[in-house]
Amino acid sequence: MPRTVPPPRVKKSRNRAATKPIPAARTGQPSTKHAVATGSAADFVPPNPTLTKLRDAAMTCRGCHLWTLGTQTVFGEGPKHARVMIVGEQPGDQEDRAGHPFVGPSGKLLDRALEEAGIDRGDVYVTNVVKHFKWERGEKSARRIHKKPNDAEIRACHPWLEEEIRLLKPQVIVCLGATAAQAIMGKAFRVTKERGKPVQAPNGGTVIATVHPSSVLRAPDPDTRAQAEREFLVDIKKVARHLG
Ligand code: URA
Ligand code: SF4
Repeated sequence: MPRTVPPPRVKKSRNRAATKPIPAARTGQPSTKHAVATGSAADFVPPNPTLTKLRDAAMTCRGCHLWTLGTQTVFGEGPKHARVMIVGEQPGDQEDRAGHPFVGPSGKLLDRALEEAGIDRGDVYVTNVVKHFKWERGEKSARRIHKKPNDAEIRACHPWLEEEIRLLKPQVIVCLGATAAQAIMGKAFRVTKERGKPVQAPNGGTVIATVHPSSVLRAPDPDTRAQAEREFLVDIKKVARHLG
């Protein structure tokens, strides 16, 4: 009879709570299984896409682990002849449920600014750098708290944005916040320094960066918020002026 080798004894940890993995759905962190974003959306981009084909393909993207967290892919939306492309960071809680970008509080603020600046919604395509909602469960409530996408996730999702830009050829790309601005202009780009200034985009068009509307909504008091909203509107009006 062959001798069976007993399995190695694993020393039990005294502190189970410290070693027990927290489920990915609670932390918003990738589980060990998905810890490294090895894939890319590039594997899911169809050949010779149109915007419609692109959006359809994105619905089943598994380019990174974020599809396991979000309810659904939230792809860009707007007319294919839009002259303005507005780029946010990632869908929020409401966008994740609705399946449409910028339908929550940030979207309402953005809509207000566009209207005041006289930019027609029919001239605007809205999208995000990352197409799935990354979140973690709040400590004290059941709310899903937004988590910033990391570099690997941003890189994995980039092929969708690249294709959206290539197909739409927007006259102006408006970057809302540092994630969007750096995804398009590179990591050295500083929104604080460059906000409201038209700069040359790598695709040949123009980029105008400003703050993310969620930063306006997070202002600590009503006066600061009103001021932040006025400054946001000034930047959006510069977009309108650039369009002529
Ligand atoms: N914030 C974003 O960056 N994008 C959305 O779609 C909604 C909120
Ligand atoms: Fe694909 Fe982007 Fe969603 Fe990751 S976040 S699964 S790359 S669509």
